[in-house]
Amino acid sequence: MKKLLLIGASGLLGNKIYQSSKDRYETYRTYNFHKPKFGNISRLDVTEKNNVSKLLRDVKPDLVIDTHALTNVDYCELHHEDAWKINVEGTKNVAESCKVNGCKYIFISTDYVYDGYKTTTYSEKDKPHPINYYGRTKLIAEKVIEALDMNYIIARTAVLFGASDLFDKLPFPSWVMQQLKLKNKIRVVMDQYSNPTLVDNLGEFLLSLYEKDRSGVFNVSGKDNISRFEFSKMLAKEFGLDEKLIEPITTAELNQPAKRPQKVALNVSKAEKASGVKALKLEEAIKIFKNQLQK
Ligand SMILES: NC(=O)c1ccc[n+]([C@@H]2O[C@H](COP(=O)([O-])OP(=O)(O)OC[C@H]3O[C@@H](n4cnc5c(N)ncnc54)[C@H](OP(=O)(O)O)[C@@H]3O)[C@@H](O)[C@H]2O)c1
Repeated sequence: MKKLLLIGASGLLGNKIYQSSKDRYETYRTYNFHKPKFGNISRLDVTEKNNVSKLLRDVKPDLVIDTHALTNVDYCELHHEDAWKINVEGTKNVAESCKVNGCKYIFISTDYVYDGYKTTTYSEKDKPHPINYYGRTKLIAEKVIEALDMNYIIARTAVLFGASDLFDKLPFPSWVMQQLKLKNKIRVVMDQYSNPTLVDNLGEFLLSLYEKDRSGVFNVSGKDNISRFEFSKMLAKEFGLDEKLIEPITTAELNQPAKRPQKVALNVSKAEKASGVKALKLEEAIKIFKNQLQK
C-alpha cells in the first residue's frame, strides 16, 4: 500500500480525503489547532520548518496532499504577515521537504488566482491575476512550487462544500442551510459567480490524477458556474427550506475588506481528461450532499 500524508486533515477537504482514502492508502494525517475527536493524528504547524522536515523523514510518504491554508479571505486582506507565513512560507516548507524526500506533492490552490474580469471560462492557459491578498499568496505559493522543479500537482478549486461534523467552522453552503433552518433572513451576493465544488468529487479527482501519474496545474471544480445567491436558492429548494428568506445583495453593498473576483468560471476539461473523473453538475452534487447529511 502506498503511503499518503494529509496535511490539514482537520479541515473540510482534508478530512473528506482521509475518509475516502484510508482503505486504499496507508494514511497519515495532521491538524494544527483543531484536533479531531477520533483516530490517530499528529499535530503539525507548517510554518515550523524543522517539524515539517522531521515528519516527512519519519513517515516517508509516497504522496503528500497539502490542504492547509489560511482560508479566511478578509482576514488575509487585513493580516498580510499571517497570510504570507502560512500560505506562502508554510507551503514552501512542505514542498521543499517533499522534494528532498522524493515524494509527490499535491497543493490546493484557488479560483481566486484569476481576476474574474473574463466573461468566458478560465483555462489553465489564462494568465492568473489575483485581485486580493489571499489569491496573491496562493499564486506566489504556486510559483514557489513550480520553481522547485519537483513532481507536483496544483489544483485550483472553488467554493468547497460537503458533509462534515468538524467543529464550528461552517463553509458557505452549510452556513446558508443553518440560517435557513433557524428561519433567519440572510443576505447573499448575487453578483459573484463561481463553480461550487463537492469535496468528495475534488478528492476523487486528486487521487485519480496521482494514480495516473499526472502532474502540473489543473482547474478542478464542479461543472456549473452560478452566483452565490442562485446556489443558496438551489440548496433551499433541495432541502425544503424557505428560499424567500434569502435576500439578494450586491458585492458593493457588502463592503468586504477583500475584493472578490466577480465571475470565475473554471474550465475543467484538462483535469477531466487527465483523470478520467467527471466534474459533477451542481444538481447532482447537492443530491449527494443531501444523502450524506441524512445518513
Ligand atoms: N473552502 C473553499 O471554498 C476553498 C476554495 C478554493 C480553494 N480552497 C483551498 O482548499 C484547501 C482546503 O480548504 P478547506 O476549506 O478544507 O480549509 P479549512 O476547512 O479552513 O481547513 C484548513 C486546514 O488547514 C490547517 N491549517 C491552517 N493553518 C495551518 C498551519 N499553520 N499549519 C498546519 N495546518 C494548518 C487547518 O488546521 P486546524 O483547523 O487544525 O488549525 C485545517 O486543517 C485550502 O488550501 C484552500 O486554500 C478552499
